[in-house]
Amino acid sequence: MIIAIDGPSGSGKSSTAKQIAKALDFVYLDTGAMYRAVSVGTLRSGINPQDEKAVAEAVKNMSVRFKDGMVLLNGEDVTVAIREDAANKAVTPVSANPAVRTLLVEKQREFAADHDVVMEGRDIGTVVFPDADYKFFLIADLNIRAERRMKESTEKLSLEDIKADLLRRDKKDSSRSHSPLRKADDAIEIDTSNLTFDEQVDKILSMIDTKSQNMEENEWLKS
Ligand code: DC
Repeated sequence: MIIAIDGPSGSGKSSTAKQIAKALDFVYLDTGAMYRAVSVGTLRSGINPQDEKAVAEAVKNMSVRFKDGMVLLNGEDVTVAIREDAANKAVTPVSANPAVRTLLVEKQREFAADHDVVMEGRDIGTVVFPDADYKFFLIADLNIRAERRMKESTEKLSLEDIKADLLRRDKKDSSRSHSPLRKADDAIEIDTSNLTFDEQVDKILSMIDTKSQNMEENEWLKS
C-alpha cells in the first residue's frame, strides 16, 4: 500500500508522515531529504546549483541512503548538513532540475516496489504515484509554518527571514515547469494550522483502511 503525503514546507508533513508510518508499521520515505542530499553533494563538489548540465552529470555519481535515522550521501552522514541554510537555498534549483527529478523519482518507485510505504514530498500524489492508495495534501497558515520551522532549525534565523524563505520556496516549487507543487485532484486536503500534532495524525489515521487496497474501496471516503 502507498500513502502519499504532499504539501508545502512547514505544513507538518514530515512529523505526521513519520508517525503515520510508525502507527501502521509502514516504511517512511522523506523525498525532500533526497533532494536536499543531492543539493549538499552539489555544493560539496563546488558545482553551481543553477548549472543544470553540471548538476545533471554530478547526480549520476551520488547515492542517497537512509540508515538508522541518518541520511547518507555516498556513505557519509549529511543529516545535519541537509537542513542548513546553504542546502535550503541550493535545493530550489537542484529540485527543479529535470535530470535530478527523473533519477530520484525512479529511486522512489523502486523503494515502494517491495514495501508498504508512507512517502512525503511535493509530487508524490501527482507524479511519483498518481495511483497511490491514499493521497493527503497538508496545508497551514504561513505564520504557523514559519514558527514550526524556527523550532526545528539549528541556526539563528529571524521569523521574518524564515517567512521570506518559505514564500520564496512556495513560489518556486509551485511555478516550476517540472512536477510543480500541486494538490492532486483526488487528494484529501488537511489544514493543520489549528490542529495539534496528535489531532493531525488521528485525523489521517481515521481515514486509512489498511485492509482496502484502493481509495475507491474505502467506504469512509465515499460518503
Ligand atoms: O520537504 P522539504 O522542505 O525538506 O523539501 C526540500 C525541497 O525539495 C523543497 O524546496 C521542495 C523539494 N522537493 C521536491 O521538489 N519534490 C519532492 N518530492 C520533495 C521535495
